[in-house]
Amino acid sequence: MSAFSLKMDIAGNRFFTGETSPLFSRTQAQQARQFHQKITGYHPTPLYALNELATLFGVHKILVKDESQRFGLNAFKMLGGSYAIARLLCEKYRLEINELSLADLKSRITEKMTFATTTDGNHGRGVAWAAKQLGQNAVVYMPKGSAQERVDAILRLGAECIVTEMNYDDTVRFTMQTARQNGWEVVQDTAWEGYTKIPTWIMQGYATLADEAVEQMSAMGISRPTHVFLQGGVGALAGGVLGYLADVYGARNLHSIIVEPEQADCLYRSGIKGQIVNVGGEMATIMAGLACGEPNPLGWEVLRNCATQFISCQDAVAALGMRVLGNPLGHDPRVISGESGAVGLGILAAIHSHPQRDALMNTLQLDSHSIVLIISTEGDTDVKHYREVVWEGKHPAAR
Ligand SMILES: Cc1ncc(COP(=O)(O)O)c(C=O)c1O
Repeated sequence: MSAFSLKMDIAGNRFFTGETSPLFSRTQAQQARQFHQKITGYHPTPLYALNELATLFGVHKILVKDESQRFGLNAFKMLGGSYAIARLLCEKYRLEINELSLADLKSRITEKMTFATTTDGNHGRGVAWAAKQLGQNAVVYMPKGSAQERVDAILRLGAECIVTEMNYDDTVRFTMQTARQNGWEVVQDTAWEGYTKIPTWIMQGYATLADEAVEQMSAMGISRPTHVFLQGGVGALAGGVLGYLADVYGARNLHSIIVEPEQADCLYRSGIKGQIVNVGGEMATIMAGLACGEPNPLGWEVLRNCATQFISCQDAVAALGMRVLGNPLGHDPRVISGESGAVGLGILAAIHSHPQRDALMNTLQLDSHSIVLIISTEGDTDVKHYREVVWEGKHPAAR
């Protein structure tokens, strides 16, 4: 491969304490996973070892968790929405989550409810899916510029879906107001003062994928990964998964790297400052799921305490990751990974071809002993754009 330098700004976390949170513990994750396991069609998503790619990149192992295979929804997000809605209903009807499946819950609901949310696509699809399973309504708002294919996927689940003229964070505020006026339940993956319970459940739900990965690594004879790459939108996924991994392995035993698009790098900026920094404006990135400018305070707390580094990178890094995962080496499995799913692997690929490869490997403490865990959080949720990138070479790595 020719050498090229893609923009990746890397910041160390000077505010790291290694402190774990009881909210995002192994126990909480296992409770969420038990709930997901009872849903018809549940199976753990695959954890692929890309051995030939690992050899090429000079690390011991690259493990990719393929969330495109999550309940046929092409992304991990339903793990959060379904668990939060179930916990909400259990609270309302005084039921025990440990004893119930989604189907049991459906039979206990005595009124028609509406769940409202804002989404870049995947979270709304998860909420719409869970509402449909429970015979309830969902109203989903999306920011300006959302891909029609992502809108259609939500509409097909029977939800109402409205694209606003606002960016993601302003759409969240609009949804909250509209829901209050209409008496709807808001199922949002970000938190703010007075709204923490549902986002906490959502983050706990995401930990199901991490609990599966820990079990899958253990079955492969891997006692722990040395590195994990987690992509950040509001930081709920990264916080939920890292919180769990820090509880299982200890935050100091894991090199965790939070990756964001440069147009929406609120966690990166917060990481430098040691406190929440918001980013505004249009946030026009191809990584639609990561186009969020205001960190989830619950996720941020975990990341401030437990993340090792933050990276802000250009769109071409994600596009490179999509192409590498879609065109595997030798016997490595093929992973169809969308823009927000592929950016972690994109960083590894961009480092491999960078003129300062060795220095970057050193900064990320990557070497021939490294076992790198990557979560491909979505498949081709925008097929048209996926093809433009992978077939037509949109967002090239080298010009
Ligand atoms: C595919 C994908 N990956 C990652 C994320 C990031 O999740 P969070 O907003 O919790 O940081 C999202 C969010 O929508 C997403 O859709």
